Amino acid sequence: MADVRTNAQPDAETVVEAPLPPTHIAVRREDYTPPDWLVPETRLDFDLDPDRTRVRATLAVERNGDHSRALRLDGDGLTPLSVRIDGEDARWRMEGPALILDIASDRATVETEVEIRPAANTKLMGLYASGGMLCTQCEAEGFRRITFFPDRPDVLSKYSVRMEGDRVRFPVLLSNGNPVASGEAANGRHWAEWEDPFPKPSYLFALVAGDLKPNRDSFTTMSGRQVDLAIWVRGSDLPKTAHAMASLKQAMAWDEKVYGREYDLDLFNIVAVSDFNMGAMENKGLNIFNSAYVLADQETATDGDFDNIARVVAHEYFHNWSGDRVTCRDWFQLSLKEGFTVFRDQSFSADIGSAPVKRIEDVRVLRAAQFPEDAGPLAHAVRPDSYIEIANFYTATVYNKGAELIRMFATVLGPEKFRAGTDLYFERHDGEAATCDDFVKALEDASGADLSAFKIWYSQAGTPRVKARIEHDPEAKTATLHLDQHIDPTPGQERKQPMPIPLKTALVGEASGHEICPERLIVLDQAEQQVAFDNVVEAPLLSINRDFSAPITVEANRKPHELERLAQTDTDPFARFEAIQELMMRSLVAGANGQDPDTESVIRAVAATLNSNSLDPAFKAEAILLPGESLIADRMTVVDPDAIHASRDALRRALGSDLRDSLLSAHRSDGAAGHDLSPAAKGVRRLRTVALGLLAAGNEREGASLAKAQFDRADNMTDRQGALGILVSLDAPERQAALDAFYQRFHDDPLVLDKWFALQAAAQRKDTVDAVRQLASHADFTMGNPNRLRALAGTFGVNHWAFHSADGRGYAFLAEMILAADKLNPQVAARLVPPLGRWRRYEAGRSELMRQTLERIVAARDLSKDVFEQVSKSLA
Ligand code: BES
Ligand code: ZN
Repeated sequence: MADVRTNAQPDAETVVEAPLPPTHIAVRREDYTPPDWLVPETRLDFDLDPDRTRVRATLAVERNGDHSRALRLDGDGLTPLSVRIDGEDARWRMEGPALILDIASDRATVETEVEIRPAANTKLMGLYASGGMLCTQCEAEGFRRITFFPDRPDVLSKYSVRMEGDRVRFPVLLSNGNPVASGEAANGRHWAEWEDPFPKPSYLFALVAGDLKPNRDSFTTMSGRQVDLAIWVRGSDLPKTAHAMASLKQAMAWDEKVYGREYDLDLFNIVAVSDFNMGAMENKGLNIFNSAYVLADQETATDGDFDNIARVVAHEYFHNWSGDRVTCRDWFQLSLKEGFTVFRDQSFSADIGSAPVKRIEDVRVLRAAQFPEDAGPLAHAVRPDSYIEIANFYTATVYNKGAELIRMFATVLGPEKFRAGTDLYFERHDGEAATCDDFVKALEDASGADLSAFKIWYSQAGTPRVKARIEHDPEAKTATLHLDQHIDPTPGQERKQPMPIPLKTALVGEASGHEICPERLIVLDQAEQQVAFDNVVEAPLLSINRDFSAPITVEANRKPHELERLAQTDTDPFARFEAIQELMMRSLVAGANGQDPDTESVIRAVAATLNSNSLDPAFKAEAILLPGESLIADRMTVVDPDAIHASRDALRRALGSDLRDSLLSAHRSDGAAGHDLSPAAKGVRRLRTVALGLLAAGNEREGASLAKAQFDRADNMTDRQGALGILVSLDAPERQAALDAFYQRFHDDPLVLDKWFALQAAAQRKDTVDAVRQLASHADFTMGNPNRLRALAGTFGVNHWAFHSADGRGYAFLAEMILAADKLNPQVAARLVPPLGRWRRYEAGRSELMRQTLERIVAARDLSKDVFEQVSKSLA
């Protein structure tokens, strides 16, 4: 009963030992009920101070439906200083962290007052201090750390906000919507009032107070309205905001053209902060960004950074419709806004750059992050059934597999019907909190299509494995495609149903290299299925799951020479990439299993790709990059990291020495001035470094000197970081020289210093475990900054060979980092757990060490529910 507090007189009849809502138990999707009380209007008044901020909230509340239940206001670490109902001091009680009020009437005005401590807020959820400014992060459940409120996404409210603070420390005061008034106050303070005309859930509330300078611009919308744009940063960072601003305007124009979506306020603000748990946040009219996704110039940002900035700016902007205007009913529907918005940002990036290369990159991310999730102890559906801590469900499954699901809808409907569907969805649910079912219903109603079978993709976890075999009858000039699908059990889902799998498929003539049967869309929806092809005039090669039309794995029994042929001739660039990668993968798995790796066919395929006159450099770079060690591990029955590393190393050495001349000329190709951010120039730089990596594998000495030359000559961060990324794994004097030079030059720039930490944590070396340990005690290391922690511990956790060091020291290091970080920032700590989670797949020694490490973490005292959920599920 310790934390059942109340201001009511103790009363033996009413204050009984009511059970507290336990915190480590699961919330279930099937338990959803509509809110008991609505809050049409919310007024917030902030007396800002980093040490003690006073928050007064005035809520207009309205009983929702015919019931007599109390008003329950969520809180997290809050103590009510005063509670008034319709102007009168009210009786209140606490149930755990929540404030409970009995209200007799159907409408009331509820006023509460609390005091919070932004400077002591290390979780970076709610109102916190970062680099001298104050800012908020409310998604998913941070608003309840600011004030008492029904903190759930289906309670939409109109907000007006008053902030008052020190004029010198906080000259800029921002919130959602439009500024309506401002003025001077006593004691060197000033105030501002903001109003957001659009009702929104509490997770989209935002406030910023700081000494910030704007990069201002404007955008004229398709209906001719002018929108004022501003990106707010520290004054010295202003020169680094041009790319983010250009990206924002591009995104605004794209959403008008492709989805018919126009921006709806007269003002759009973006603020960059250096301490941020995630990438960025779509608060209505006031997006808050991790500075890593705003600040860039040629000297400090790589091409990848520039691309990420464009992508994240677009993503958060797109949420204005897919997330803000139409929001989620409950957090189980998270993919409704995130999967759809990821699909939208992927399409945007494809349109402004190279579509095939973008598709390859997106599939790489899916395979590296989502497939392992689906195959491990943390597997869950795109629309999960339960969670302990919702912050743990911002996952690759909800985001990236969710985006693939939307892509499948777009594929089966075709572009016109898909667009009609999204138009109807936005129109029908504008101003509402919707569900994934609502989204599918809108697509169905607008298109006339029946998508009911596809909905299983929302509820069934696991990656389908499709086996495909083509049988040719030369006499009849026909072919039969034999397909079957299988999904392994996942936690809580022992038996799986067949899923509808859209497979873009073509047949390529083995001799002619022509597409003899043009691409068609096959929907495999049975456990086993056969598909007939006519007019098969020569021996066919199977080109399947083109453009990665479904998020599955395909086992097509194609011979190495058939893959080699497809790698040269397939008209679908993704399928071509896939053919080379499959060839490499088979060689790598064979090598790791102590079998003949058939290196020759890989070398021929890579040579042909490198020397092709028709392929562009960006595609070549993607195609010749070997699958990573974790991806190889996913294909092994029992994972032996040393064997995988040795196999991959051997293939890289063979490629590097056998193809030295082709690689050298790819490495040397120029035409990519540092300031040139065109897709073509980016491609040249990418291939330059990928080729250099293989050259260094073939000949360390030559590689080290070429890499040092690239490092020294670089007029841009892409070449510089690329070269350093190769040098860190070599045993050459150039290594330390380059690391030191990089540090000397950039140690005052936190985002570049993150790269310095990350590059060393990614080094493919025997001593990487020792190096990361030392870096954890480096003067520039701090756990309080999520970017820095991720750069070191996050990067190390996915450095397969180093992390899985046989003596278990990698596991011990990560565990120490998780436990220490959990005391400060549970959300960020919990995101470091997954690399430990797949212990069952490793050889006995490592498996046992990993399991013991998880046991040790879960036994720690005062573990957060974030880390508890991830670790306990990993052990279950
Ligand atoms: N709504 C999220 C930000 C968020 C995530 C808030 C988790 C609270 C918890 C935002 O729209 C988002 O998805 N950001 C991504 C980047 C995006 C480009 C996929 C992120 O922060 O990683
Ligand atoms: Zn998002």
